[in-house]
Amino acid sequence: MKRLLDVLREDLHLTGTKEGCGEGECGSCSVRMNGELVNSCLVPVLQAEGADIQTVEGLAFDGVLHPLQEAFLCHGGAQCGICTPGMLMAAAQLLERSPRPAMAEIREALAGNLCRCTGFIRIFESVAAAVDAESAGSATKLTTEQMHHAR
Ligand code: FES
Ligand code: FES
Repeated sequence: MKRLLDVLREDLHLTGTKEGCGEGECGSCSVRMNGELVNSCLVPVLQAEGADIQTVEGLAFDGVLHPLQEAFLCHGGAQCGICTPGMLMAAAQLLERSPRPAMAEIREALAGNLCRCTGFIRIFESVAAAVDAESAGSATKLTTEQMHHAR
């Protein structure tokens, strides 16, 4: 039986999701299924029938990169790129549940994702940078709103 990974890549041509080990060990094929992070190499496609699937292609919105994608670009979180989509999906999952994670939480959330290129430090730093950028954005918004109220 086809795996979710095969259908995404071969039938739907959503080749952002990568195959590393094919055995549930590396996290390169991570996608979100009904809001949960799954290894798409381990999901028979029948199990995904009717499910809400988000792949890395779904992170950018309206042609604008997701803050995590921006941060990976700016902070050297990606080299060959095989692990990157899975890392991004795992990080996106984390930020949805915990918008301001500590470094220990970031490390834990990405523990199931392997990178053979960058070492993990730059990846962790990229996620932390995205958190900082988002926090700064919220702070700016708050300040603008506060100024508005102060008038
Ligand atoms: Fe699915 Fe490695 S390719 S976990
Ligand atoms: Fe190559 Fe992570 S960037 S495996």
